[in-house]
Amino acid sequence: MPAVVIIGSQWGDEGKGKITDYYAEKADIVVRFQGGNNAGHTVVIGEETYKFHLIPSGTIQNKQVIIGNGCVIDPKVLLQEIELLKSKNFKIDLKISSNAHVIFPYHNLLDGLEEKFKGKLSAGTTKRGIGPCYQDKIARFGIKIFDLLHEDILRTKLEQNVMLKQKLLEIYKDKTILNKEKLIHEFLEYGEKLRPYVNETPYFINKALDEHKKILFEGAQGALLSIDHGIYPRTTSSNTCSGGACTGAGVGPTRINKVIGVMKAYLSRVGTGPVPTEIIGENEEIANHIREKGHEYGTTTGRPRRIGWLDLVAVKYARMISNIDAIAITKLDTLGGLEKLKICIAYMIENEKKETDIMPTNMLENCEPIYIEMQGWEDKSPDEWNKIAEKGYGAIPENMKGYLNKIQDYLKIPFCLISIGPRRADTIQLQKIF
Ligand code: GDP
Ligand code: IMO
Ligand code: MG
Repeated sequence: MPAVVIIGSQWGDEGKGKITDYYAEKADIVVRFQGGNNAGHTVVIGEETYKFHLIPSGTIQNKQVIIGNGCVIDPKVLLQEIELLKSKNFKIDLKISSNAHVIFPYHNLLDGLEEKFKGKLSAGTTKRGIGPCYQDKIARFGIKIFDLLHEDILRTKLEQNVMLKQKLLEIYKDKTILNKEKLIHEFLEYGEKLRPYVNETPYFINKALDEHKKILFEGAQGALLSIDHGIYPRTTSSNTCSGGACTGAGVGPTRINKVIGVMKAYLSRVGTGPVPTEIIGENEEIANHIREKGHEYGTTTGRPRRIGWLDLVAVKYARMISNIDAIAITKLDTLGGLEKLKICIAYMIENEKKETDIMPTNMLENCEPIYIEMQGWEDKSPDEWNKIAEKGYGAIPENMKGYLNKIQDYLKIPFCLISIGPRRADTIQLQKIF
């Protein structure tokens, strides 16, 4: 199985970092193919916690890592991440696509201003400049990593961009004055620092596949945040589905051998927009309990995450649009101690008085979840979960098996991995992928 894509099957923060790190042990290369430092991927090894925003999570397995053309890069953040890893004595074997687009400070500024302007239609972005940078890419105003290595190109492009962005700032009544020369100077410096890593990555990746190297493609965000298939406009600005790995890394679809969907045993959402299974109102205590127990606070922004019951209508939709072959389920331990658990298996569309298990992407706010109720399992200490992981699937609580069986019956795909704690060791592998 040389080429495996790992993606989020919900609204992000499913545990992609942990799963990528886990499977990266047997991989040769790990590639990020979309998004930017809106992502926050956590890897816990023993007592150490690492949070990655741009560098693929495989880096702490000392693997070749690649930031593909589909990503948007804030060079300052990337350089900080490189420095941090170096300071911890990690080997940095990084290649950056010359075609990845660059986030400039005006993108961050505009991100905040656009959000304010959109009001009720805002997505609650991470304010990392992601949307405005992708806007420039699609409008063909974008500035690429390649351009940071060539002053003449950077100068020509920045001249146009600064002029236009200055006008935009005025429209938004923002008083910031953009300093083109300062930007040129600053970003040429970043370019020099990044130069050793810049590469024509599609050639590298495809050659590696020809040589039967094992490649993991690490998705960011989640299916419901996809610009094309998510709950628009409460989405991010890139393609978070498995197809994004093809365009965002430069590999043809038939080269992908397997797609793994990472799914939390419940769900979380940072930002705005409808989440039918959100636990609110009289049940808020349950949400608070899960949030505290599962440390459900944004890895990137620190915002408290909204908590919801597992929504299988949404995951089944994610399975379809990405052709997910197997599910890696995370955070089953976090649900420990809850007497009853709910799983959403259909929606009632309110105005139409119609039941459906097809994701109504354009009217999710009108959907009432239809639940089945399951028996929960007892709470355990992290060490107890760890011991269970050591023993394997047979040792997990019977009610947890019931929960997993129900999910599998519904989704009609197997689990490849069960995660019952944040650490590498708190993992039960059911399927090898390499
Ligand atoms: P990502 O963006 O998909 O990589 O996910 P995040 O790193 O933003 O959020 C997932 C959080 O859950 C992180 O704090 C992980 O360390 C943690 N985590 C992952 N898997 C498990 C698990 O099975 N159990 C527990 N308790 N925590 C987990
Ligand atoms: P990882 O990779 C969860 C959400 C934001 C907002 C919307 C658009 O860690 O799972 P953006 O800054 O991308 O323009 O914001 O998408 N969002 C995420 N939510 N996890 C993420 O990444 C996210 N990246 C963006 O909260 O609603
Ligand atoms: Mg995250």
